[in-house]
Amino acid sequence: MPQKKTIADFNKMVAEKQKIVYLTAYDYLTAKYQERAGVDMILVGDSLGMVMLGYSTTFPVTMDDMVRHCAAVRRGAPNTFVVGDMPYMSYQTSDEDAIRNAGRLIAEGGADCIKLEGAGPAICSRVRAINDAGILVMGHIGLTPQFAGQLGGYKAQGRSGDTALKLVRQAKVVEDAGACSILVEGVPAVVGKEITSRAGIPILGIGAGSQTHGQLLIYADMLGYYDDFTPKFVKKYADIGKQIQDAFSAYCGEVRNGAFPVDSEHAYKISEEEAGKFLELLKKNGM
Ligand code: KIV
Repeated sequence: MPQKKTIADFNKMVAEKQKIVYLTAYDYLTAKYQERAGVDMILVGDSLGMVMLGYSTTFPVTMDDMVRHCAAVRRGAPNTFVVGDMPYMSYQTSDEDAIRNAGRLIAEGGADCIKLEGAGPAICSRVRAINDAGILVMGHIGLTPQFAGQLGGYKAQGRSGDTALKLVRQAKVVEDAGACSILVEGVPAVVGKEITSRAGIPILGIGAGSQTHGQLLIYADMLGYYDDFTPKFVKKYADIGKQIQDAFSAYCGEVRNGAFPVDSEHAYKISEEEAGKFLELLKKNGM
């Protein structure tokens, strides 16, 4: 059994130049395999909305969805650091709502840390308030889907000198507000590198180049499972979607042609004596 890592362990990994391995998961089984594989940190992201629930955005995801899926991941990976994502409008409204909802992810969902998007003054106030309530907060800057309207859509950020500089400043204010770590999403590699080299906390990247302290991918992207769209930064480590579809097709074929099930292999046994009695009883009862 691996020992669950703490934020102190992640800081030590950064100091020792060991990369932090981070993946999303939303359910018990996936989390179990990730823990067995030695993943350092699991994000129960609000990408749950697209990957598991079939929405086209993360906006409809609720606190109840997040709590239920966090708890499932916790059951699958009891010894892995779990980050619970704050869904849309669970923290934007006030510091008090943010603390209460962050507390639910910890108390009911079993998360070790919460993550929230943004870097404006109101968001920094939420980071401070949640942190003051004793809860670890991971910031999230760059391509922040809950702010897609203001960002001009779901597109890479920091692709001009000015916007890249703004991201470096945002990382600093989120760190100063008390974040224990920051996730940087969808920025050019040089921006990921410059944010990381200036940070005093672990910087995790998803589509932020190779120089961040750790890497995150959405597990269903890297397995070739989610195929509605695939971001440029994803590397596919498997073709699970095809394997699953092939297996379902084979099952359809075998049920239809009678090749499955085979009674000698896939059925419960009864002794010949009891089977004989059973057939006799049917006769006796006129059946
Ligand atoms: O919800 C999520 O999985 C995320 C990542 C895409 C960064 O926030």
